[in-house]
Amino acid sequence: MPSPAQLAAAIARLAAGGLVAFPTETVYGLGADARRDEAVARIYAMKRRPRFNPLIAHVADADAARALVQVDARAERLMARYWPGPLTLVLPRRPECDVSLLAADGLGSLAVRQPAHPVAAALLAAWGGPLVAPSANRSGRVSPTTAADVEAEFAGESLVVLDGGPCAVGLESTVVDLLDPLPRLLRPGAVTRAMLEAELGPLDAPVPGAAPRAPGQLASHYAPTLPVRLDATAPRPGEALLAFGEAEPAGYAEVFWLSRAGDPAEAAASLFRGLRALDRPDFAGIAVSPIPDVGVGEAINDRLRRAAADRLA
Ligand code: TXA
Ligand code: MG
Repeated sequence: MPSPAQLAAAIARLAAGGLVAFPTETVYGLGADARRDEAVARIYAMKRRPRFNPLIAHVADADAARALVQVDARAERLMARYWPGPLTLVLPRRPECDVSLLAADGLGSLAVRQPAHPVAAALLAAWGGPLVAPSANRSGRVSPTTAADVEAEFAGESLVVLDGGPCAVGLESTVVDLLDPLPRLLRPGAVTRAMLEAELGPLDAPVPGAAPRAPGQLASHYAPTLPVRLDATAPRPGEALLAFGEAEPAGYAEVFWLSRAGDPAEAAASLFRGLRALDRPDFAGIAVSPIPDVGVGEAINDRLRRAAADRLA
C-alpha cells in the first residue's frame, strides 16, 4: 500500500493536471482529472493513443456515477451486483456531466466503473471526483499488471506510479453498452457473458464490420513484438509456450505456465505477465496451448486473438 505521503503526492500531481498510474483489480490505469481537458489530452499523448478510443471515468461509488450518466434499471442491477468490480457500463451522459468531452471523444455516452482495488478506492476517495484512466501502456501494447510493468513502459517520463502489488484479475474490465434496448458486450472480461445474461437476459450480437467502439475491438491489440500462435498442440523450432492444462509440454525453448490446473481465472491473472515474460528476441515466437472458450476463457481468447492478429491489419 502507498504511504499517506505517496497518496498526497499523487493528489497534488492530479490537481496540477498531471498523470498518476494506479493499481486496479484488473490492470494498472493511467489516471487524470476527468474534468480537465488538458489533463485528458496528456493521457492520449503519453499513450500515443488514437483519439477515437474513448476513456472510462472511474468513480468512488454508484452515486458518483449517477451524477455523470443516466442510470437505468439494468445498470442499477449490474451496479448492485458487481460494483465495485471489473465491470464498465456505457450509459448516456447527463446534460450536467462535467467530464471532459475529450474523454468520450464527442460521443453522447460515457463509460463508468467503480474499481475494487483498495489503492484505487483510496485515491478516488481522496481525490473526490472522477478520474479517467485507460490501461497504463502505450496504445496497442500489452496492459500492465504490476507497477514495474508501468515503470518499464514509461521509463524516463514524468509520472507518479502508485504500487499496489500484482493485479488479481489481470484482464481489463468487461465493457457493456447499455445505450440501446438490447445490451451489447463490447469487451469480454471477468464479469462473464453468462453472469451478464443472468442479470439482463440475452445480449445483442456484435455489429459486424461496425466502427470500433472499443480499442479491444481493433484487430491488432495487446501485441507483443514476437508472433503469437494460438491453439498450439506441438512445438515449432525456437518457440516458447504459454501453457495451460495438465499435459506436460515438451520441445519448447521455454514454458510459462498460465495455469497448470487448467483454471481460467488463474490463467487470466497471469496472461499479460506471461506475454511480457516470453516476448524476448531469443525466441522465434510465442505458442499458446488451447484454452476453452467458456467463462473468463472468452476474455482470455479475445485478448490472445488480438495479440496474434496481423500487425498490419
Ligand atoms: O479494467 C479496465 O477497464 C482498465 C482499468 C485501468 O480500469 N481500463 C481500461 O481502459 O482498460 P482502456 O481505456 O484501456 O479501455 C476502455 C474501454 C475501451 O475498450 C473503450 O473503447 C471502451 O472502454 N469505452 C470507453 N468509453 C466508451 C464509450 N463511451 N462507448 C463505448 N466504449 C467505450
Ligand atoms: Mg487498454
